[in-house]
Amino acid sequence: MRVLMVGSRGQVGSLLASQLLQADFETKALNSQELDISSKESVLSWQSWKPELIINAAAYTAVDLAESESEKAYAINEGGVKNLLLLASLCNCPLFNISTDYVFDGSSAQPYVESDSVSPLGIYGQSKRAGELQLELSGQSFINIRTSWVFGENGNNFVKTMLRLAEQRDSLSVVADQVGCPTYAGDIAAALVSLADRLRVGKEMHWGHFNFSGSEVVSWYGFAQYIFQQAGLAGLISREPAVSPITTKEYPTAAERPGYSVLSTAKIRELYGVEASDWRLAISELMPKLKR
Ligand SMILES: NC(=O)c1ccc[n+]([C@@H]2O[C@H](COP(=O)([O-])OP(=O)(O)OC[C@H]3O[C@@H](n4cnc5c(N)ncnc54)[C@H](OP(=O)(O)O)[C@@H]3O)[C@@H](O)[C@H]2O)c1
Repeated sequence: MRVLMVGSRGQVGSLLASQLLQADFETKALNSQELDISSKESVLSWQSWKPELIINAAAYTAVDLAESESEKAYAINEGGVKNLLLLASLCNCPLFNISTDYVFDGSSAQPYVESDSVSPLGIYGQSKRAGELQLELSGQSFINIRTSWVFGENGNNFVKTMLRLAEQRDSLSVVADQVGCPTYAGDIAAALVSLADRLRVGKEMHWGHFNFSGSEVVSWYGFAQYIFQQAGLAGLISREPAVSPITTKEYPTAAERPGYSVLSTAKIRELYGVEASDWRLAISELMPKLKR
């Protein structure tokens, strides 16, 4: 099965590219120079390759910068999805897309399910939601995976930032009043590959929105503590910095973030048998890789 995948240099995309190849998909994994999703011309130039599945791991992901780069965020996160949907319709194939917990405003007190109403707080979340609307309006078969707090070996993420800060400081403060579920990029890739495999073997597909994230809720503060503990055990840092909890108010950012960013992963488990990401295990397995 021919799979066209975009965003091949990203946290998820880089691991997805290798997992697709390992699973024997005929894969074209493209970076932004090879395929710019915000350009209709660039996207449609791949029509002749006749993809049987398109996977979008590309996105504008700079949450704070998006507040001053709204046009760019929308061009990629909405326009890019629209262009990929056009390619999908011309090739008569489904589109797998990735979206975010930031489509919700975090005012809930219980894990968000897929049918909950969306209300993104900032430009990034709004532009991702605009991309989701393109999916919903297209009439095309799609699977949209909403995920949260992504980390992995490639690209920038909270884990790497914490490790860098640990080298530079004896103590640091981390926000403790935002909670969510960290998700390992490799687990998102594995979930997408398992859905692609189901499509390949002709099993029944359930289209639409699906949450996929880590199984355990934690604050950024708690996540940082766990990262330092595991990094210490793996010999990645010489000493664990002292971590103090602070409030969101004490750490102002350009974009407002949801306080409660917890996704229910029951739907993807029940319909596809995909289990939530075990982020604690993933962190402990990631440390030796980051050491290398
Ligand atoms: N990171 C998170 O915490 C998080 C949380 C929730 C949801 N998500 C979603 O998860 C998905 C994957 O995120 P990630 O963390 O893997 O992102 P990432 O590491 O920032 O990678 C995004 C990739 O998108 C590519 N890209 C940007 N503009 C492009 C364009 N115009 N055309 C083609 N490619 C373009 C970049 O390509 P180049 O490197 O080639 O320029 C980059 O490699 C995204 O949909 C994101 O919104 C992420």
